[in-house]
Amino acid sequence: MTLLHTETGGRGQLIEGKAIAEQIHANTADRVATLARRGIQPRLVFVRVGEDPASRVYVGMKEKTSKRLGLASETIVVSESTTEAELVDLILKLNEDSNVHGILVQAPLPKHIRETCVYASVKPAKDVDGFHPINVGKLMLGDPTGFVPCTPGGIHELLIRSGVRLSGAEVVVLGRGNIVGKPISAILVQKDKRANATVTLCHSGTRGLAAHCRRADVLIAAMGVPRFVTADMVKPGAVVVDVGVNRVPDPGSKTGTKLVGDVEFEELLPVVSMITPNPGGVGPMTIAMLMQNTVRAAEMATA
Ligand code: GUN
Repeated sequence: MTLLHTETGGRGQLIEGKAIAEQIHANTADRVATLARRGIQPRLVFVRVGEDPASRVYVGMKEKTSKRLGLASETIVVSESTTEAELVDLILKLNEDSNVHGILVQAPLPKHIRETCVYASVKPAKDVDGFHPINVGKLMLGDPTGFVPCTPGGIHELLIRSGVRLSGAEVVVLGRGNIVGKPISAILVQKDKRANATVTLCHSGTRGLAAHCRRADVLIAAMGVPRFVTADMVKPGAVVVDVGVNRVPDPGSKTGTKLVGDVEFEELLPVVSMITPNPGGVGPMTIAMLMQNTVRAAEMATA
């Protein structure tokens, strides 16, 4: 297997999320071309509720990549005051539209809307986010016919393609969110040659969290606390995946803020064997998996 990495002077290697995402895009673009020969263009609809600045950026990036790969995409923006019933109604219409292969409702949603109800209303065959209870259940069961959520799917692919041995590895996941922590734990614990790890899922109620972290061969930080993981919490030679995207004050910058991850990157670099850069690690992989899921949805709908 080719290790995709950048040498960092005998210290930890960078896990090249951008380059690995491009490998996946190349395969996705081939599949788009195959569908095009049959007169089919995968179509992905984004639904954004309100004007959350981060959601605007994320959906914009996803839409740009869709276009680059030859997918058709559109973003439906509804106002912050939209009711849950109105949003569900919109999703039911998209479910019925045979030209739409994938539906993505960007989280977070306003407080008056229950995310569980919204995600349960997306037709499972169009649920390219992998958030519908049927797809969540299939992930738990190890049933490959479902859709795997994009960020944990991307982290898994990053680890595999970087040559990280997962079978028998001690994996510690920080954060029990539905988007990353829970699903990545479910993926890595499966009895499968691409997984088979021993997974510890830590969260805000965990006692002795640093001691758990120090046992990890693979540490996945996804709790959304800026620069939480410091060098003393990491076993020498560990592989570290930083999923965090946290906006923190930065009086020196033009905007007065900047984005940082969940790990102290500079401090960890001399200690780890591999680490994701942030940005440029997990983020591009999330988008790559979304594109792949959407093309698969189109293939399945037109088989
Ligand atoms: N918000 C943060 N990550 C995600 C994601 O993977 N999907 C959706 N729909 N919203 C998100």
